[in-house]
Amino acid sequence: MIQNAVDAIRAVAGARPSVGLILGSGLGGLADVLEDASFVEYASIPGFPVSTAPGHAGRFVLGRLAGHGVVCMQGRFHFYEGHPMSHIAAPVRVMKALGVETLLVTNACGGVNLDFQVGDLMVIDDHINFMGANPLTGPNDAGFGPRFCDMTYAYTPALRRLADEVAAAQGVALRHGVYLGYMGPSYETPAEIRAFRVLGADAVGMSTVPEVIVASHCGLPVLAISLVTNMAAGVLEKKLDENEVIETAATRAKVLERLVTGIVERL
Ligand code: 6GU
Repeated sequence: MIQNAVDAIRAVAGARPSVGLILGSGLGGLADVLEDASFVEYASIPGFPVSTAPGHAGRFVLGRLAGHGVVCMQGRFHFYEGHPMSHIAAPVRVMKALGVETLLVTNACGGVNLDFQVGDLMVIDDHINFMGANPLTGPNDAGFGPRFCDMTYAYTPALRRLADEVAAAQGVALRHGVYLGYMGPSYETPAEIRAFRVLGADAVGMSTVPEVIVASHCGLPVLAISLVTNMAAGVLEKKLDENEVIETAATRAKVLERLVTGIVERL
């Protein structure tokens, strides 16, 4: 399946991308502004999963951004959709096989840290895998990496510093924190959110953790930035509303796109 995807992408896009982008819910707009764009629908790749989440298209977009060749997943796969963990993270291996040297990930998340506000951007410094599964279970493909994969620097320190520099130059406030990956699709209960805060989580979401584990395994440097689309359960005196996720993503998407573009420019 990985080789099918690599072949399909090479057939439409000549240039070798050096940057991989995985864009979160409502944050896929960057893929629409790539220069010399070409598209490969997931559905056209034999064996490839197809995403069903709201706010997600289902295709690779190849093109150029800020002078770099990029391959972009416009629409990603989530564990809650029922995809096996190995499928969720397979696109990261596709990117690695295409020659990508840096992976940039965005996502929508719920704010757990009480200092956070809706609309905040957070560089993920580290994660807690609370999804109850790991994409590297099963036989290890030693061509990609070792059986037991180190996660100490999974979120590449130099890229986190670069994000701060670019954000400062753009006048964009940037938080840092720990992202806790939750299986979903129900949101957490207020008791779970209180527990996760004690565990050290600043934000909670349903993506990114599988992709970052697989990137770490194959030695791909990662920068991940979360948009706080809503506060997590129990933080505010109101129910969670999936429309708020879409609305916050829509109002903040341009700021995040400009930040990501500025970071790509400096790679
Ligand atoms: Cl509150 N929880 C999770 N798991 N994912 C989210 C979220 C909350 N808000 C946006 N995405």
